[in-house]
Amino acid sequence: VTDDTAIGARRFALIGAAGFVARRHLDAIRAIGGVLVCAHDVSDSVGVLDSYFPETRFFVRRAEFVDFLMGPDDRVDYLVVCTPSDLHEQDVQSALAIGANVIVEKPPVLSPEGVLKLAALQRQTGLTVHPVLQLRYHPDIEALRQSVLCAPGRHLDIDARYVTRRGPWYHVSWKGDPRRSGTIVYNFGIHLFDVLTWIFGSAVEPVTAWLEADGTRAGGTVRFAEATARWLLSSRAEDLPDGGANSFGWRQFLVGGQVVADFSGDYSGLHRRVYQEVLAGRGQRIEDAYQATLLTDQLLRTATANGQHIPALAPAAVSDQEG
Ligand SMILES: NC(=O)c1ccc[n+]([C@@H]2O[C@H](COP(=O)([O-])OP(=O)(O)OC[C@H]3O[C@@H](n4cnc5c(N)ncnc54)[C@H](O)[C@@H]3O)[C@@H](O)[C@H]2O)c1
Repeated sequence: VTDDTAIGARRFALIGAAGFVARRHLDAIRAIGGVLVCAHDVSDSVGVLDSYFPETRFFVRRAEFVDFLMGPDDRVDYLVVCTPSDLHEQDVQSALAIGANVIVEKPPVLSPEGVLKLAALQRQTGLTVHPVLQLRYHPDIEALRQSVLCAPGRHLDIDARYVTRRGPWYHVSWKGDPRRSGTIVYNFGIHLFDVLTWIFGSAVEPVTAWLEADGTRAGGTVRFAEATARWLLSSRAEDLPDGGANSFGWRQFLVGGQVVADFSGDYSGLHRRVYQEVLAGRGQRIEDAYQATLLTDQLLRTATANGQHIPALAPAAVSDQEG
């Protein structure tokens, strides 16, 4: 980002302001010199706004929020969607209808058809929908992609794991409701499947997938023209290398058994990069999420067809650590 003056003029609105991920967006908007004009959430627990944009107008009712945004002096450049995942498609449509570009959290929608629909609306309106696919900006992932692009023709053996512990609250919240989150396959998996499809393109049949009945783990294999990837998703502390004693996340890509990308630590700062790229005109567009959404959907359908259950944790990489 080079032109600070232009960035300072950008105006934002945000839906889902009381939630967990909203803070990353508030941080990013402030970091790039933007202004949060107004925010909306059905919950009024939004004291966080004072830490970032104390002058922001806040609305609990959607209709009042939209009315405000339609005012001639209150238009925004971007509407940021941080609501539960099942609401994204309709929230993005509403944002486009009021004439705003959109930044939408992952997964942008819960079906490949949804991506195509939003891409069509993007073309009709001349506005842009930017999905948050922030791992593409992780230095280890960027380096992995470069190494693959620089040495084509190999067939790589990949392990992709996304283990992040989640307590009992998770299963009580919308995230534990498969219809709202798309299961752990969409909720955690979209990160891995976006990186894999970004680097290796579309998958080659057949894929394998399983999903434990309680929704806390999923895994399988995906073949690409130049790689075979075993994938594992888990929200269980016992799947962390130390059983969760001192760690929170274990999120890695391995090639040939060697760790090539480690994003186990805090990568919340990547949201700033997402915003910088959007404002510089290089942000991801909704169609960039198509391959990942297609694969995620295919894996979820496969896991569901398999009866959503596997009795034991399959990938060797995890049992090594547990041993
Ligand atoms: N990119 C990432 O790394 C990352 C991390 C966490 C969450 N997310 C995504 O961000 C989104 C939000 O997740 P979260 O963890 O913040 O969830 P959350 O439950 O903490 O927050 C969601 C917020 O939306 C509000 N909300 C619910 N229904 C609403 C409605 N109809 N209108 C307005 N507000 C409504 C809730 O009150 C809540 O404050 C999800 O799609 C999630 O997958 C992305």
